[in-house]
Amino acid sequence: MGKIFIKNIKSLLQVREGKESALPVKGNDMKLLPSIENAWLAIEDDLIIDYGKMEDWPGITDWRNLEVIDAEGSFVMPTFVDSHTHTVFATTREEEFVDRIKGLTYQEIAEKGGGILNSAKKLQSLAEDTLYSEAYERLNKIMAQGTGAIEIKSGYGLTPDAELKMLRVIKKLKTNHPLTIKATFLGAHAYPAEFKENHQDYLDLIVGEMLPKINAENLADYVDAFCETNYFSVEETEFVIKEALKFGLKPKVHVNQFTSIGGIQKCVKLNAVSVDHLEIMEENDISVLKNSNVMPTILPSCSFFLSIPYAPARKMIESGLPLALATDFNPGSTPSFNMGFVISLACIKNKMLPEEAINAATLNSAIAMEVERDFGSITIGKKASIIITKPIKNLAYLPYSFGENLIDKVFISGKEI
Ligand code: NIG
Ligand code: FE
Repeated sequence: MGKIFIKNIKSLLQVREGKESALPVKGNDMKLLPSIENAWLAIEDDLIIDYGKMEDWPGITDWRNLEVIDAEGSFVMPTFVDSHTHTVFATTREEEFVDRIKGLTYQEIAEKGGGILNSAKKLQSLAEDTLYSEAYERLNKIMAQGTGAIEIKSGYGLTPDAELKMLRVIKKLKTNHPLTIKATFLGAHAYPAEFKENHQDYLDLIVGEMLPKINAENLADYVDAFCETNYFSVEETEFVIKEALKFGLKPKVHVNQFTSIGGIQKCVKLNAVSVDHLEIMEENDISVLKNSNVMPTILPSCSFFLSIPYAPARKMIESGLPLALATDFNPGSTPSFNMGFVISLACIKNKMLPEEAINAATLNSAIAMEVERDFGSITIGKKASIIITKPIKNLAYLPYSFGENLIDKVFISGKEI
């Protein structure tokens, strides 16, 4: 692949070295985004090898296999990390979208046979190859919008066969797609209709059949559950997580989307990597996170699409917490994988500052899926997965000009796409 030298960078964002390049950015520090004005960046093969200020540029002595990019007027930053998605699914769900416009609630749509169970039925009958090729195409689009690493959940299968099919698809994507991918087992996404009155039988299916098979084929990195009123209770969530932990799957959990029922407290006890959604937060939900290493992850484009409350980001940041941002890309509640739009919403709706939102969408979200050694900052030795913006006036213009595509080039592990 050779070397790439990017010069005249107006601002090189999120530059961190040493310990700082792999630690969560918390509280007051979230508004600090270390940057170098008028900078250069050097890439060799798939890695960042050096950077500095233009005035200190060492000069080029060896032009062999060297590509020079003039980034005049542009910002350069690490690619986004999307630490919460449901990118593998059978079909989109526009009918529900229209039902919601007409006034039906999330609950009413689920009761009409829509929602997660609707997605599961379609996925169960879809061939693995089709599921794979469609997800692969989605990942290409995701990558073009500046995401360099992504977490993908199962949870639209809900039978042993279909959950395994989804996870095998994710495993194949890991091998074949240039994006860095983590797989999360979300068998506890919703109770299939036949288990509505008999939760224990479904839980037994998850722990007795799905988990051992997932383990045997090494299909997942994490376990998740939709811990929510009418879905999985705190006790049911705990049961699944504790069994999954025996197979080495750490928890990353859907909590507090509609109600606060104690899921966060449980996840803190179980050392979850992240707790995600957090639209409905009580005082204790925030305070219990303070003395933990759990990454609170908010999903503003889900709030936007469902017209539900936005997570109280200011309150969380002001109590000293770190925050990560992700899309929640899925066909039901967030049919968008655009991290740029998530950053705009985080600023406009969650009242995060542009610097806070970029910290949340890069380094903190890398920590939320444990890829911070390779992603999340401009650091010597990290993957050369970077975004070159179109020429822009300042940092705030990025979230300000919401909906505009401000990405000029994306490099994933040193390769322009
Ligand atoms: O994260 N909240 C649970 N799961 C998804 C939505 C799933 C669906 O409606 O298909 C979410 O928003
Ligand atoms: Fe989700």
